[in-house]
Amino acid sequence: MDFALNEDQLAVQEVARTFAEKRLKPRAEEFDSEKLMDRGLIKEIAELDLMGIGLPEEYGGGGMDSICYLLTVEELTRGCSSHAAVVMLHNSLYGYPLVRYGTEEQKQKYLPPICTGDAIGVFALSEAGAGSDASSLTTTYTKTDGGYLINGSKIFITMGSMSDTMIVFAISEKGAGAKGISAFMVDTKSDGVMIGTNEKKMGFRASPTTELSFSDCFVPKENLLGNEGEGFKIAMSTLDGGRISVGAMSLGLAQEALEIAIKYAGDRVQFGKPISSFQAVQFHLADMSTMLEQARWLVWRAGWLKDQGDNYTLAAAHAKLAASEMSTAVTHKATQVLGGYGYCAEYQVERLYRDARLTELFEGTSEMQRIVIGRQLTGKR
Ligand code: CAA
Repeated sequence: MDFALNEDQLAVQEVARTFAEKRLKPRAEEFDSEKLMDRGLIKEIAELDLMGIGLPEEYGGGGMDSICYLLTVEELTRGCSSHAAVVMLHNSLYGYPLVRYGTEEQKQKYLPPICTGDAIGVFALSEAGAGSDASSLTTTYTKTDGGYLINGSKIFITMGSMSDTMIVFAISEKGAGAKGISAFMVDTKSDGVMIGTNEKKMGFRASPTTELSFSDCFVPKENLLGNEGEGFKIAMSTLDGGRISVGAMSLGLAQEALEIAIKYAGDRVQFGKPISSFQAVQFHLADMSTMLEQARWLVWRAGWLKDQGDNYTLAAAHAKLAASEMSTAVTHKATQVLGGYGYCAEYQVERLYRDARLTELFEGTSEMQRIVIGRQLTGKR
């Protein structure tokens, strides 16, 4: 068992960390308060070969392993979680299902533009009545000459209003259940696609979270992803990987909060001493660091298992559950260490705290992770 990062992994970590430090962190507060997603930065991330770092080289990706990808997501999240979320979408929620289930033509058409940052690809599963209960979709598809017509609406689609292309999950008829679901590649500019409003959110504010609707949206038959009826399996197997990515985001938010708290505690003098010399503060920092390290190993192990080709559903749920709850706890404690300053935007911790809260919600709430873990342990649905 080797716990050390290899040369490639260290190099990727350094590139992503330097980019986050120089290009994202100085503007993180602006991105958050202005709800600003900078497409120029998406291109810059792509120029560093990070936008498709885990996707195959023959389609423009970086061809690196999951640990390189997770390190990238963690480091970029330390700079700006919303911009990091695009890397997560491209490698995980949009890129992975294309690589695993797509035809050669689909891969050649849809993967290169997301690796270069020229296109933004999104994952459209959730609906107003189908959140945790993801198989109860009401967005339908019907067969028509040469393809399918999609009707219905989606909510909470990360980067929806900035998307160029999406994977849309739809059901053959309402109530058909998991086996009635299929996945489709849809160009956002297609007739019948309507971009709705962006949510006003607590965190991840630079990344639009959008309502989308489809009215007789024609999708050619060659845009079916995988086989008909395979959509739920595609969504769930994709979310296994997505959940590790959320774990990496959680690490990034917590690591940043911990480092800010350590620095602040060293600088802040009260009762004649830096507050870092008080055990009350050291205990907070010790707990933060311990929780963070525990979660990091779960996240990395889940990524490693994925690369071994083993079933990693359980490991991914463990990683997501532990890391996201850790992230909320660590950013909460960081706020406590900073006191009133932790509540003010200038010190960044309040933003990290708000962002961390989402990690327990998207790509399956903590409760859904417990369901996945419970079912895996007992074999009972
Ligand atoms: N991989 C492959 N197949 C899987 C799977 C996995 N991880 N999990 C389930 N399946 C298959 C099952 O084997 C089953 O197929 P068979 O009947 O052929 O065996 C089928 O899917 C149905 O499985 P279940 O009966 O277990 O499904 P369920 O309806 O009970 O749901 C659930 C299970 C775990 C609760 C699931 O609904 C779930 O994960 N819910 C959370 C949804 C979620 O994470 N949403 C996130 C939205 S996306 C998002 O946040 C994106 C964004 O923009 C940020």
